Amino acid sequence: MLSLSERLSAAVGEAFEAQGLDASYGAVKVSDRPDLAPYQCNGALAAAKKAKQNPRQLAEAVKAKLDADEAFSEVTLAGPGFLNLTPSQGLLDGLLGELQQDEHQGAYRRETSEKVILDYGGPNVAKPLHVGHLRAAIIGQSLKQIFRRAGDEAVGDIHLGDWGLQMGQLIAEIKRRQPDLVYFDRAVTEGYPEESPVSVADLAEIYPVASAACKEDPGRMAEAQEATAELQAGRPGYRALWQHFVAVSQEALRADYGRLGVEFELWRGEASVHDLIEPMVDELAEQNLLEFSDGARVVRVAREDDKKDIPPLLIVKSNGSVGYGSTDLATLVERKRDGFERCVYVVDKRQSEHFVQVFRAAAAMGLYPEDRMEHAGFGTMNGKDGRPFKTREGGVLRLSDLLAMVDEKAEERLKEGDGSLTGEERAEVARQVGLAALKFADLSNPRTTDYVFDVDRFVAFEGKTGPYLLYAAVRIGSVLSRAGSSEEEALGFAAAPAEPAERELAMQLLSYKDAHRGAYEKRMPHLLCEHAFSLAQAFSRFYAACRIADEESAEVKNSRLALTALTSRQLRDILGQLGLEIPPKM
Ligand code: ARG
Repeated sequence: MLSLSERLSAAVGEAFEAQGLDASYGAVKVSDRPDLAPYQCNGALAAAKKAKQNPRQLAEAVKAKLDADEAFSEVTLAGPGFLNLTPSQGLLDGLLGELQQDEHQGAYRRETSEKVILDYGGPNVAKPLHVGHLRAAIIGQSLKQIFRRAGDEAVGDIHLGDWGLQMGQLIAEIKRRQPDLVYFDRAVTEGYPEESPVSVADLAEIYPVASAACKEDPGRMAEAQEATAELQAGRPGYRALWQHFVAVSQEALRADYGRLGVEFELWRGEASVHDLIEPMVDELAEQNLLEFSDGARVVRVAREDDKKDIPPLLIVKSNGSVGYGSTDLATLVERKRDGFERCVYVVDKRQSEHFVQVFRAAAAMGLYPEDRMEHAGFGTMNGKDGRPFKTREGGVLRLSDLLAMVDEKAEERLKEGDGSLTGEERAEVARQVGLAALKFADLSNPRTTDYVFDVDRFVAFEGKTGPYLLYAAVRIGSVLSRAGSSEEEALGFAAAPAEPAERELAMQLLSYKDAHRGAYEKRMPHLLCEHAFSLAQAFSRFYAACRIADEESAEVKNSRLALTALTSRQLRDILGQLGLEIPPKM
């Protein structure tokens, strides 16, 4: 269905066409002078310039046509040719009726569905999840839901960091500590123990030690590189040991992402494309895209008009091992093979050069046109000092500690409430509120900007926060039950907003599609956050101004219940896309 602004744009567009001008001049937007009218169209100025006409006269002619159109209750002119537009009661009533019936609840729908893969994991085996992974997970999961709502077939892939140098570093370090383990005995090639010799906690301890040792000592680095190359070449003991790393890490990751309410349909990793690399290298060579550089094989991707130097993409290192660039390129081979039409990478924006390299190489190979691969980069979550968030001791904050912290704050807030929750209920609600606080804070900032982590502000029940929206959703639901109705029943009542606060709520409800479309097209969930907040606020003004349960006129009461039900349903639809769970009470 059309949003209100689309419906108005269509009418104004026709009026421009009647003047022999392009309909696109009729684009209508929410007014920046709401005191004059809720909508405006400024197209007459540009159209008049193009047609060499007087803008005021053109706007007069457009207005004359709109005056006769039942979609408008008032059209006024301002300045050199601005049109101020007020939709009619009849138009609002009609569109609300459509909204009640719409199986997609007024959301934006694409004409054709695309098969999209979103890459928003990227945690590394042996390294615990930390706040850096949080943004990828929260934004990626939300974008996936936004895509699905728009009708795409969207799938999330965790794309584990389970290949490359880190793995060799771990193997080399364990070999130093426990050289007698069967995995290091070249005479043994099968029948390895099922039990892992290391736990996730061991890995978390071993990895930083190994990585620091390699940084300091070139000898240790050479060992790690050798181990990486042997692992990749298929040395059985190394592969078996590596399997354990992956298995124990995956188990921990499933638990962590589960706590966040973030899901991946695919649990693939860098290693899963290893066998695709050799044929890919052959293909690159055949297409004359591969060049030698200091013993390594690379693909040159720089272009003349680049503003800065884009280095070549490293495909095979001089010792035969492969790294980040090759696995990402081979993953595109895999994704294309699996029929994905679009690949979206939700990864820290500081990795943008890497994606430029990979996408250009993929396009040169003919895998995907460049516009089918997107790096939806995000900014960092900073501490109050404006630098990437760290613990008080200066370390990287683990996700589990972060969640515990937010949980605790949320519980404190809830204790200040009216005491209608039992202790057990409160713990569960605190979990939902804490997560909502964290997710909403992350999503409500434009994806590409950095933001400051401020737990007290995030869990506040007032202002543009997750807890405020959950609270609004719970309260709106209870308005219906207290009036003895249900959402389903109320969606069947005729909505006929008459009071200003009712009309404002109606106009918000009828602009959902615009917000959802913006969030979809720009890959920017914050546009949905803004809409949810405006909707909740419009509801609260409506609720303050209009009686519902004790309204005497049955017709008016039912209309208000219908508006309430529409708000409740729409808010739930949006919060679902943002990954916020609404508690039964709060
Ligand atoms: N594991 C990588 C890192 O820690 C992130 C992977 C992001 N996804 C991708 N397809 N490159 O930097």
